[in-house]
Amino acid sequence: MKPTVYICREMPEELIAPVREHYEVRMWESTSEAVPRDVLLREVADVDALWTVISDQIDEEVLNAAPSLQLIVNMAVGYNHIDVQAAAARNIIVTNTPDVLTETTADLAFALLMATGRDLIGAENALREGRWTSWEPLGFTGTDVYGATLGIIGMGRIGEAVLRRAKGFDMDVLYHNRNRKSEMEDMYGCRYAELSDLLASSDYVLILVPYSEETKGMIGEKQLSEMKETGILINVARGGIVDEDALYDALRTKKIHAAGLDVFETEPVPLDHPLLTLPNVTVLPHIGSATVKTRKAMMKLNVEALLAFAQGEEPNHQVRG
Ligand code: DGY
Repeated sequence: MKPTVYICREMPEELIAPVREHYEVRMWESTSEAVPRDVLLREVADVDALWTVISDQIDEEVLNAAPSLQLIVNMAVGYNHIDVQAAAARNIIVTNTPDVLTETTADLAFALLMATGRDLIGAENALREGRWTSWEPLGFTGTDVYGATLGIIGMGRIGEAVLRRAKGFDMDVLYHNRNRKSEMEDMYGCRYAELSDLLASSDYVLILVPYSEETKGMIGEKQLSEMKETGILINVARGGIVDEDALYDALRTKKIHAAGLDVFETEPVPLDHPLLTLPNVTVLPHIGSATVKTRKAMMKLNVEALLAFAQGEEPNHQVRG
């Protein structure tokens, strides 16, 4: 008898076809809506494998409802929505999708940094709304990217990919990380800094740390007050790393200049969220890895993990708590 997999979001048939050869496949048939919690809890009752996306909270309740579950393949590099320790305690393997999204996410981080620095969206909206009345000596002016100081918090693979882009813009790059990376410092001429120094010295502060108990609320009132008044905060990691109330206050009272956010504590961000009322915030709907090529590469890694498992092999890219 074939094992059963439940796929929490509709995936393209051409990618699922090889999975069907090895699994009984059941799937939540929507690309745009997350599987409702009650459906998920019901569906997992007899599954051997689960294919998740970041909107699926896989916690003790789900794991308890899934007594035969042995494998979770997650279509993201981040896995803070999965209780990996609880999964490990039940011998459930969890896999993610690293590497294939590194350059794509770095592109987005840099694009958001540039869009926020030069207020591209504000300028476009002004044009569309008929507020471009004349060339103004100080109209639509922003902050330079070329030659500015960039502070990267979290120097993993994506951080390194952003660093390479920043060097093309002659930026002075500081980084803060759990471990120092001396080889990278030598190769690119970037510098390690304590968090306070990085915040105080950077024109752009880019958050790239994974979300965990340790990084939750890492950028709060104190850290925002350490930034330059002209400083710009960019977050493409996870919303909960930044205290959104503190960020709102810092932006409203001009303690910092602007923010670019691809991620929010609650996603999709509610349209009445205070941050959305501010003109100095550039917002995106969590699109770091969103190119067709990269999203399909992520799906392919998930499929490979499913196939390996079905054939009795060790799936690649396992994550542990
Ligand atoms: C990830 O992979 O963790 C992204 O945030 C989702 O694409």
